[in-house]
Amino acid sequence: MMRSSVQFSSCAAFAVVLIASSPARAEPPKCITADCHSGYNEGKSVHPPAKNAECDSCHQPKKDRAHPSKKGRDFTPAAEGPELCHMCHDKKNGGKIVHEAIKMEGCLGCHSPHKSNHAFLLKEKPGKDLCGTCHESAQKTPAIPHKPYAEGKCAGCHNPHSAPFRKLLVEESPKLCVRCHAAAGEFAKKKTMHPPVAEGCGNCHKPHGGKASFLLDASSPSAFVVTRQNGDMATCLGCFYTEYAAEKFASCLECHDEKAFTERKTTTATAFRDRDRNLHSLHVNRRKGITCTVCHEVHAGDSPALLRKEMRFGSRRLPIAHTKAEKGGSCAPACHAKQVYER
Ligand code: HEC
Ligand code: HEC
Ligand code: HEC
Ligand code: HEC
Ligand code: HEC
Ligand code: HEC
Ligand code: HEC
Ligand code: HEC
Ligand code: HEC
Repeated sequence: MMRSSVQFSSCAAFAVVLIASSPARAEPPKCITADCHSGYNEGKSVHPPAKNAECDSCHQPKKDRAHPSKKGRDFTPAAEGPELCHMCHDKKNGGKIVHEAIKMEGCLGCHSPHKSNHAFLLKEKPGKDLCGTCHESAQKTPAIPHKPYAEGKCAGCHNPHSAPFRKLLVEESPKLCVRCHAAAGEFAKKKTMHPPVAEGCGNCHKPHGGKASFLLDASSPSAFVVTRQNGDMATCLGCFYTEYAAEKFASCLECHDEKAFTERKTTTATAFRDRDRNLHSLHVNRRKGITCTVCHEVHAGDSPALLRKEMRFGSRRLPIAHTKAEKGGSCAPACHAKQVYER
């Protein structure tokens, strides 16, 4: 018997009716009638072979079997597992690191073969819903999430199929971050890079989001939006002055010893001192203290000690005019007359 003559002749008879009533349709639907398989070619995203009723490209009728036969499955898949999909698509499981999900459930763990209400024939909305079916971690949203994470744009960083880098990443940081944050591409061109930045953005930033703003788990000096469990926020985005509290500078004090900023007298804790008078402490540790990022860059800079050339005071830019000397330095900022310090 010829391949599926019964099935397709009955479908074809119906197609004539459809063509007559909708002449605009180029491909007559073959297996879709009001009674049979209606809806297989309808939805927000419909797979072209289903839309065009090329059902037989994936379902091959069993020999000597009329359909419907009530004898169990009348069709066999044209190929098994992912190979069915790779008949028409580039191999998705050929990369260096293959998503375990494909090994577990093939392509159908995430995609519907016919139609779906989500883009890319996905079974669920990408992000929490889709990835969260298997990843408990994806069901939770960090207190202050990274925008692409919150929006379910996981594919901005992870290839859902297979990828050249660990954790299915499409790139390693910093290149990963530079894809969307062009300014970060400039860090490496500066004279000095803050060592942890050169090592990897993940030293400070949580790629999915953190407990505090700027993808940090601890509050940062110029932006300590501290989230508390009850939802209160102590906001200070871009502040210049703040009363000193270790908590506010936690993202720096994770690595830098607090003594450099608190001890009034020292000959060891910091180089920013005049003999034993701690000038860090003088500026920072007071009621109207100055935040670290008024004077320092966080990522990279062209001056010694990551010092900024200009400080931001509201919308104004004021000079700092720091000069390094052999045993100290001098500053002539807008705030006070030139001061010299010597160790
Ligand atoms: C791209 C390949 C492909 C095309 C084209 C395709 N199917 Fe399927 N179909 C599948 C796969 C794979 C399954 C198994 C789904 C599963 O196991 O979850 C399936 C399952 C089915 C089932 C079983 C019930 C169900 O929905 O899971 C029916 C009925 C069906 N297809 C009908 C059709 C019809 C009618 C068409 C044409 C309009 C069609 N298919 C086109 C791949 C395809
Ligand atoms: C008979 C050929 C054929 C087979 C088999 C096939 N596809 Fe497709 N698929 C297409 C065509 C044609 C398109 C539209 C052009 C494109 O995006 O490549 C498409 C598009 C897609 C898209 C993108 C849809 C969108 O909204 O942009 C996904 C996802 C997809 N297929 C998944 C699968 C999966 C999963 C399988 C296996 C179950 C599969 N395909 C098997 C032909 C096929
Ligand atoms: C873990 C979930 C998951 C699995 C498993 C999966 N996909 Fe996808 N697939 C996605 C997501 C998410 C997208 C959308 C990517 C985007 O937003 O750019 C996608 C997009 C696609 C596309 C369209 C865009 C492109 O990359 O060409 C095709 C085709 C596709 N998948 C085929 C497959 C095939 C074939 C398999 C099995 C080998 C498979 N997928 C397994 C999640 C998955
Ligand atoms: C069908 C189940 C399933 C779905 C759906 C799924 N995953 Fe996975 N994924 C796994 C399994 C299993 C592993 C390997 C075990 C693990 O590391 O958790 C894995 C591993 C990963 C890893 C690497 C983790 C590591 O420690 O190396 C990433 C990243 C990942 N998945 C992202 C995603 C994203 C993004 C989505 C949604 C587009 C998604 N997954 C959807 C099952 C799934
Ligand atoms: C801005 C880039 C970026 C986006 C967007 C992103 N991720 Fe990740 N993700 C990463 C990086 C980087 C890691 C590796 C972290 C590390 O160093 O261990 C990771 C790790 C993971 C892991 C393994 C570790 C864990 O947390 O369980 C999973 C699973 C994962 N991501 C899922 C997702 C899902 C789901 C989404 C979308 C809702 C998503 N990611 C969006 C960058 C991203
Ligand atoms: C897919 C694009 C994309 C990638 C990749 C990406 N980001 Fe983002 N990131 C965004 C978007 C969009 C925002 C929100 C910007 C806004 O609201 O103005 C954001 C915000 C941020 C913020 C907060 C900035 C602010 O002003 O609140 C930080 C910090 C950040 N990203 C760091 C990173 C790091 C580190 C990486 C690499 C691990 C990375 N991003 C990778 C898109 C991306
Ligand atoms: C030493 C910790 C640390 C490391 C490592 C780090 N950052 Fe940051 N980053 C911060 C802090 C703190 C802020 C908040 C800025 C502020 O307080 O003025 C920030 C802010 C940002 C912002 C948003 C504000 C802006 O300046 O545009 C982006 C984007 C960003 N970082 C990207 C990166 C990238 C990309 C890397 C890796 C190359 C990286 N960061 C490494 C601490 C770090
Ligand atoms: C992950 C660890 C880490 C974090 C977090 C960190 N730093 Fe650093 N920082 C270092 C290391 C390591 C050095 C080099 C050794 C040193 O000077 O202590 C350094 C050096 C510096 C320098 C001197 C650079 C030079 O060229 O002399 C400044 C200024 C600085 N950090 C400021 C900050 C500020 C401000 C923060 C908070 C936003 C911060 N750091 C957070 C690890 C860190
Ligand atoms: C008023 C400007 C100013 C403020 C505010 C400031 N610094 Fe500094 N900092 C300096 C100067 C100037 C130096 C360089 C001293 C030298 O080498 O001559 C320096 C040096 C450093 C160094 C190099 C090691 C050391 O102590 O000499 C680190 C690390 C550092 N600062 C971190 C911070 C952190 C963290 C904060 C906030 C808690 C901060 N700074 C606040 C001006 C400032």
